[in-house]
Amino acid sequence: MKILITGGAGFIGSHLLEDLLSSDNEILVFDNFLTGKKENIEFEGSFKFIEDNFGTKNSLNLIKEFNPQICFHLAAQSSVVVSVGDPLLDFEHNILQPVQLIKTLLTTDCSKFVFTSSGGTIFGEPDILPTSEEDFAGEPESPYGIGKKKLNEIITSMTINTHMSYSILNLSNVYGPRQDPHGEAGVVSIFSNKILNNEKPIIYGDGKQTRDYIYVKDVVNALILSSKIDSNLFLNIGTGIETSVNHLLETIKSEFASDIEPIYQESRKGELLRSVLNSSKAQKELNWESQFSLNKGIKEVVSWLTT
Ligand SMILES: NC(=O)c1ccc[n+]([C@@H]2O[C@H](COP(=O)([O-])OP(=O)(O)OC[C@H]3O[C@@H](n4cnc5c(N)ncnc54)[C@H](O)[C@@H]3O)[C@@H](O)[C@H]2O)c1
Repeated sequence: MKILITGGAGFIGSHLLEDLLSSDNEILVFDNFLTGKKENIEFEGSFKFIEDNFGTKNSLNLIKEFNPQICFHLAAQSSVVVSVGDPLLDFEHNILQPVQLIKTLLTTDCSKFVFTSSGGTIFGEPDILPTSEEDFAGEPESPYGIGKKKLNEIITSMTINTHMSYSILNLSNVYGPRQDPHGEAGVVSIFSNKILNNEKPIIYGDGKQTRDYIYVKDVVNALILSSKIDSNLFLNIGTGIETSVNHLLETIKSEFASDIEPIYQESRKGELLRSVLNSSKAQKELNWESQFSLNKGIKEVVSWLTT
């Protein structure tokens, strides 16, 4: 298969690339290192890597020339907090460049566009938990969420009556090795790294806010399964398990046998109180299920941080 991956040097993208390299695929990867890292893709396997925005004229020409059969579009300005401070940057990477990409792909043989949308933001502050694909409770609170929701609509509209179908996967909170422990998102890596260094983790708000933490390999599995289905898909990908930030920290602390106490600070703008996804549609349509418990996934993160 000829496969295009945007954002391939990022956290999820690098795991996807590693998995796809184990089969006989010809792979073209774009990443501008906005948040991605060279060391994320320093593994065995043959693929072409281009360090650039995927939406430049030159990149779009290269994509057209490559003529992919599948596009996994993961590149994004991926931080809610950054989007609040710099909405223009967000819309540039998360809407304007993707529109150029889709336009270009429609001139190629690409028959599947797989997009990583955000189940934690597009539904607004949810009324119904676990939240299913239909449970929109209001508009997203952050430019990041608005961008993801708009791009979902743009993908749907631009692919009508074309040869390209889409798989839009609304991911919950993804965690795993290679997630930046120094960033402002990716709380599993951040807390684990702090505890490892005997530093106090910071909790924004009272720590009772909940998230649905899903291990990165479960997400990669869903992305690949969804790429093999011809029809359009709009699916939530999460565990269905609601975990508070306080509970998450306790679970990580027990992994390190640590008794360190967190510092509580004011909650951050644009963040939800509760978030957990209902993924029963994905279970049915992809025959997919999350395989990693939180304890098992945290062990993988700790092992990555300590080796
Ligand atoms: N991590 C999560 O919990 C989560 C949840 C829901 C959705 N997502 C989405 O999944 C995708 C991957 O997220 P991630 O956690 O791996 O984040 P990430 O920041 O590690 O990956 C995004 C990658 O895209 C690259 N990039 C950004 N703009 C680009 C551009 N214009 N051209 C080329 N490369 C560009 C970045 O350098 C980075 O490597 C993103 O679209 C993100 O919004 C992530």
